[in-house]
Amino acid sequence: MILRTERLILREFTADDWQATFAYENDPRYLRFYERDEVTERQCQALIYQFILWQGEQPREKAQLAITLADTGELVGNVGVRRESANEPVADMGFELSPDYWGRGYATEAARAMVDWGFGEWWLDRIHAHCVSENTASARVLQRVGMRLEVRLRDHQFFRGRFWDLSLYGLLRSEWEAARTLSG
Ligand SMILES: CC(C)(COP(=O)(O)OP(=O)(O)OC[C@H]1O[C@@H](n2cnc3c(N)ncnc32)[C@H](O)[C@@H]1OP(=O)(O)O)[C@@H](O)C(=O)NCCC(=O)NCCS
Repeated sequence: MILRTERLILREFTADDWQATFAYENDPRYLRFYERDEVTERQCQALIYQFILWQGEQPREKAQLAITLADTGELVGNVGVRRESANEPVADMGFELSPDYWGRGYATEAARAMVDWGFGEWWLDRIHAHCVSENTASARVLQRVGMRLEVRLRDHQFFRGRFWDLSLYGLLRSEWEAARTLSG
């Protein structure tokens, strides 16, 4: 599976991609809204291995792709949609970018391509995503791809010595289709 956008190529992970992922996952800017204080090499390798295992599912239930720059091939993050089972019309989505590449619209570009693919290829009825409510950069990406805030769970998580609200954003197929019609 490979998706191309104006500036990006979203491609399947390979085993040695863990190093580029590891390089940014310990950046304090990246870790700010996560419970963990660090990511070990082993954890990062296991994560990439998990993404690679998903490639072999028949039929496929989950897809998490490397976000790479079309110009240079550099891996700058990842994005995916995940179903609980292949018959499930609902998927959740997740994405992350190396902090060195924030503020350029890459996450939105990648998430939009993934959303279009989920509705277009998996014929999903709904895609949703959770984020820590204070993670406004993530919330903005979700809003830009058309998702709306459905619920805010107050004090849902406790880490870094305090409670954090969690927001659930969702987009329905009918809304996605209506937006596409409007944008021509
Ligand atoms: C969530 C995350 C991917 C968002 O990254 P981001 O850089 O803010 O998002 P984008 O790549 O879509 O960039 C959007 C920003 O680039 C700006 N931008 C600059 N040039 C742009 C261009 N050519 N096209 C589009 N946007 C552009 C936009 O105005 C926007 O800024 P704003 O949010 O201040 O309005 C990033 O913060 C991250 O990786 N966080 C850690 C992991 C995480 O929290 N993941 C989500 C878990 S739910």
